[in-house]
Amino acid sequence: MPTPSFPAVRPRRLRSSERIRSLARETRLSPGQLVLPLFVVPGRDVAREVPSMPGVKQWSVDRVSEEVERAHAAGVGGVILFGLPEAKDATGSHAWRDDGVVQQALARLRRDVPGCTLITDVCLCEYTDHGHCGVVEGGEVANDPTLELLAREAVSHARAGADIVAPSDMMDGRVAAIRAALDRAGFAATPILSYAVKYASALYGPFRDAADSTPQFGDRRGYQMDPANLREALREAELDLVEGADMLMVKPALSNLDVIARVRSVANVPLAAYQVSGEYAMIKAAAERGWIDEARAVDETLIAIRRAGADLILTYFAISAAMRL
Ligand code: PBG
Ligand code: ZN
Repeated sequence: MPTPSFPAVRPRRLRSSERIRSLARETRLSPGQLVLPLFVVPGRDVAREVPSMPGVKQWSVDRVSEEVERAHAAGVGGVILFGLPEAKDATGSHAWRDDGVVQQALARLRRDVPGCTLITDVCLCEYTDHGHCGVVEGGEVANDPTLELLAREAVSHARAGADIVAPSDMMDGRVAAIRAALDRAGFAATPILSYAVKYASALYGPFRDAADSTPQFGDRRGYQMDPANLREALREAELDLVEGADMLMVKPALSNLDVIARVRSVANVPLAAYQVSGEYAMIKAAAERGWIDEARAVDETLIAIRRAGADLILTYFAISAAMRL
């Protein structure tokens, strides 16, 4: 077929009005594809703003339903819970206490907002006194001894009412370990959303303030991925699928759109992308100075993440973005 060209072809015809643009639009975003991250803290009547994340708060169990009700009313697809424990220790043992802060929040939210999908982040860095995502032996994060602890945490979350568990630690073999433990405990129907491709990123800085999870020595490069690597991302995705992951995640989102696209093309499961705390803070900071338009920047980045191939997006903008949709 000959390729017609100008003046027969005028791509601007399809951009001439919002009605036409809407018909020609290739990618869409709906509120149900957004997931809101939430930080749950000990104490009563707490709604404390995180300084590096304006508009994001830490919530105590007795008040967290307020925010989840807002999200649910806006049509947001679910929430993912992160917990700050009463006390930290070397193994992060508060992570798998059935009266832990996340477990209590799950019970409360199940009752107060029954229609909302509750996801939990499964990791140890918020719970360990050294701030690493696993147990430390000889100055290193020890892979295999960590697996059992993550599995306990995941089972405890499922028991408390989590709909989906999402391991973010980046230990090898953790999906298989968690799957086996869930099945043994009677939670064969609980899906695993694996943070399969998680880069060691500067963009997690504000989160570590919010979750009080900054490593007390070294960094996370011994377990999180090198941002230079794409083939390794595909390998991680493949391994997690073999181990039984039901959904995969890539994070951060905006700096890894190519990775999202490649993982999408090889993995036939729902794919999530996490617009992380640093992505949130950059937009907020520029918008506060009047340098960019927050709503437009958010909508543009979210649609780009969808276009790259993400089915779900975890974002701190979930409520405001959903309300515009
Ligand atoms: C815990 C975890 C982190 C994030 C999600 N789960 C922090 C980290 O790995 O340091 C980052 C999320 C964000 O920056 O918004 N392992
Ligand atoms: Zn962690």
